[in-house]
Amino acid sequence: MKITASAPGKIALFGEHAVVYGKPAIVSSIDKRIYVTIEERSDDDLKISAMDLHIPGIILTYSKDERLPKVETNFSRVEEAVSYVQKGIYLASEYCGKSKGVNVEVRSEMPVGAGLGTSAALSVATAYAYLTLLGSEIKRESLADLGHKIEVAVQGSASPMDTAVATFGGLLQVTPLLKGPSIERIGFHQIPGLVIGYTPREATTADLLKRVRSLRSSFPEAVESIMSAIGSIVSASRRALEKGDLASLGELMNINHGLLESLGVSSKRLNDMVYSARYAGALGSKLTGAGGGGCMIALSPSKENAVKTAIQVEGGIPLAASLSDIGAKIEG
Ligand code: PMV
Repeated sequence: MKITASAPGKIALFGEHAVVYGKPAIVSSIDKRIYVTIEERSDDDLKISAMDLHIPGIILTYSKDERLPKVETNFSRVEEAVSYVQKGIYLASEYCGKSKGVNVEVRSEMPVGAGLGTSAALSVATAYAYLTLLGSEIKRESLADLGHKIEVAVQGSASPMDTAVATFGGLLQVTPLLKGPSIERIGFHQIPGLVIGYTPREATTADLLKRVRSLRSSFPEAVESIMSAIGSIVSASRRALEKGDLASLGELMNINHGLLESLGVSSKRLNDMVYSARYAGALGSKLTGAGGGGCMIALSPSKENAVKTAIQVEGGIPLAASLSDIGAKIEG
């Protein structure tokens, strides 16, 4: 028996990083997805392959063991991707109390570890496919929660933002609360002229989260004020989104980028792309996701081509992706 599940990537429009410290964030799923195919094996092993991540087929003979696999590569993102699958299988089998040896094949329509939420999509799609193969049903709230636990187990910390949007899909406001996240659907709008630029990352999400945590422990009051300011930007941008007020949205993106810069999570290349997009006519632009390279977004109604060219001139790659409202699903 063979099951394929998929989950979408995401764009954090406002509020990344601050959402890790309890502030709300606005996020949308995109039309690029991660596909995870899980096939039953006749033994208890776990075999992971992902040709587009250069993982030709790694056999883990200790699939129920919590230790992370030792992967023979110097490409740390490969090791990370394997860890999300392994933890996903481990925690999903703990969730349903059953387990089976499986072959797992991963396919990604987007660059991995670039700020587009691929780790959350991989966690959610792995758990969903594996539970479905085992005949165990799961509600969306529990799938989002399980995906979040997988991310926390691999990264050390994570907000519920990415796993919520990978599970539910759509344009969402996600607010972490003690009793579990509040997930509010903002109503689906295509935001006109949203351009995404990509540059390879210099650090992983886990590294960037650690950097912010350490800045916060050195300067708690200053960093808390930045987080609160980001929270206020999210409230203002929700009102602007609901009114379709693009000029205000652009300005709020610029402020949000400045605050992320002050947390030390941008990079020279990312800043160059963000500023050049504005000079090329974008109403606003910011990094999206954890930063340290990765992706930026620019609100560029009727200026898409000029903004894409500006991103290329700075050495970035414009990505052909748009907002979508399709969450995790079983493909068959
Ligand atoms: O760069 P990504 O796709 O891993 O997104 C990280 C978003 C953060 O807010 C920085 C972390 C989180 O868990 O919300």
